[in-house]
Amino acid sequence: MTRQGKFRFKSPISNNENSQDWSWSYWLAVPFYPYGKRRTVKSEVIKDTIWTFDQLHGILYTIVPIRMTVVKLKEDGLLIYAPVAPTRECIRMVNEIVKKYGDVKYIILPTSSGLEHKVFVGPFARYFPNAQVFVAPHQWSFPFNLPLSWLGFPQKRTQELPSDVQKAPFAEDFNYTVLDINLGRGSFVEVAMLHKPTRTLLLTDTILSIPEEPPEIVQLDPYALLFHAKENGYDVVTDNKTNRRKGWQRIALFAIYFRPSALETVGLWQALRDAVKAVDKSKKAYFGLFPFRWKDNWQDSFNALRAYGRPFVAPILQTLILPQAPQQVLDWADKIATWDFGRIISCHFDSPIPTTPHEFRNCFAFLEKNSDVSKAFGCTNEPLIEDDFKFIKQLEANLIRRGIATLPKEKV
Ligand SMILES: [Fe+2]
Repeated sequence: MTRQGKFRFKSPISNNENSQDWSWSYWLAVPFYPYGKRRTVKSEVIKDTIWTFDQLHGILYTIVPIRMTVVKLKEDGLLIYAPVAPTRECIRMVNEIVKKYGDVKYIILPTSSGLEHKVFVGPFARYFPNAQVFVAPHQWSFPFNLPLSWLGFPQKRTQELPSDVQKAPFAEDFNYTVLDINLGRGSFVEVAMLHKPTRTLLLTDTILSIPEEPPEIVQLDPYALLFHAKENGYDVVTDNKTNRRKGWQRIALFAIYFRPSALETVGLWQALRDAVKAVDKSKKAYFGLFPFRWKDNWQDSFNALRAYGRPFVAPILQTLILPQAPQQVLDWADKIATWDFGRIISCHFDSPIPTTPHEFRNCFAFLEKNSDVSKAFGCTNEPLIEDDFKFIKQLEANLIRRGIATLPKEKV
């Protein structure tokens, strides 16, 4: 387990694009790419104990992994953290584990705001009728605040995660602590769970690490990678390792900053002129439209973002969410930093992330006035490029002006 990127081609089970194995009929509920076809990559992280299941999510070919973690309990049975879409392929892979290690006993929804995680829990739970479903407190949904049963959660076996860990039926295997920030119109909630026997910390959205090479799940169909490797609308990109890597690194910049500083948009007429010259004018290729130009220094931005794979807090959370309750976040991070762990499994980007409690705690130094790492936007001494935050800062200013967001609280 390292922070080095991996480049492994996995041979798909089948190349039939209409495979029912990957079909996900309820994609309209949260219409993210890859919509109705969702592949799954299973990895065994700790032999006979922890497995991750990666699928994809995103928009406009800006796609990143979304991850579920399956943990074998000391006694027979499994706990599932943040389920992904229960496609036929995914359920078959879970059942391979069930056959060896026992039924799914507990399913955890570890977030209240992450719709991309919430949407799969109800449908997933239906495949495991003996499982109890535990949800993070203060659940809400957007645009309508629907009761969980309307989102397909099994009413009779769904309950809120007990605030007292000892009251949870899996307390022998897990410790957990909940970050619960009231944002006025809803809450940002994340449940950090420590699997004690393997010293593994499970997190949802708060911590990320960016791999240098495209993750395996993104490589099953490299179209999105090659799309983003283009320099303009008529560029023809061959499928090779260099172009896949280039596409992935640009996708990471898009996904993290929305509009990174190394990206320029081109005018409509230029985009149309380029599109006319494009060899592929299909709908899949957005009719040859590609209204971007990457500046020559785009890779500097990526290198600062990746910083050898160190864990960090996503800029959108650093800017819009966590500064709403700095003391609460730091208390939560302090508590987690007292736990003994050596790796983090996060629900997006790289996994697992080798780390230490100290390094994890440093990721939140941006909330402190007088921290020796507080000058860094990321954590450790590898700052992100301030210019790359511009778009998110503008977004914050807009939301504050419209009364949708409130000013950040003072640092601690
Ligand atoms: Fe998420």
